[in-house]
Amino acid sequence: MTTSLGVQQNSSRIPTQTKFIAFEGLDGSGKSTLIQNYRAYLEAEGLKVYLTREPGGTPLGEELRNTLLSIKKNANFKISARAELLLYEASRAQHVDQIIRPKLLAGEVVLCDRFTASSVAFQAGGRALRTGDVEWLNQFAVDQCRPDVQVFIDLTYEECQRRKQGMNQPLDRLESEKAEFHNSVYQSYKQQIEIDPEGWIVLDGHLEPQLILQRLVQDLKKYWE
Ligand code: TYD
Repeated sequence: MTTSLGVQQNSSRIPTQTKFIAFEGLDGSGKSTLIQNYRAYLEAEGLKVYLTREPGGTPLGEELRNTLLSIKKNANFKISARAELLLYEASRAQHVDQIIRPKLLAGEVVLCDRFTASSVAFQAGGRALRTGDVEWLNQFAVDQCRPDVQVFIDLTYEECQRRKQGMNQPLDRLESEKAEFHNSVYQSYKQQIEIDPEGWIVLDGHLEPQLILQRLVQDLKKYWE
């Protein structure tokens, strides 16, 4: 029934309500708030929900996350665009094998803060690596375990920046990139959605959090049938 487990999707062992949903958007778009709210909603409906994130989600993934996001003071510490992509993919492969697939097989709903579309957006869009290369590595890493649907919170870089103003939080390695980088990431998301509109739910990031949740619940109904 479900598409999230690829070749195993016809296995009678997999509960049909199993769902794998990935959340995407720019830094500061309100993704984390929405995921938390949606988790609470599903749990109130009696579903078992597992919330996870990329990079990260496993002990290895969290180690890689520290490397990927921290800004090392040592000027010799650099990550090339290809190496960066491979680290994200290594985190993803571990995440699928150790967490996502087992949770889906156990009948849990998996909500993932970022997944493969982030690599296309940030490493192909932002870093200008070839989209085909990123897509191939994504396929290799997920090993047929794909989200049933991807959710994009639509808010431009400028708008995300405006929201963050006054928060005074330290920026991580990716957040420190220039506006041009983030605008390319945003454009890449838009292209991905244009190519595969059926695979995405797009939510207006300007709306109040509770309204965004309502829209998500409404739009996701068809995936729960
Ligand atoms: P995080 O603090 O989780 O950002 P956010 O809260 O916006 O999700 O940091 C993850 C960063 O890693 C974010 O800037 C996006 C980036 N990233 C990639 O560049 N490629 C990827 O494949 C993934 C999963 C994330």
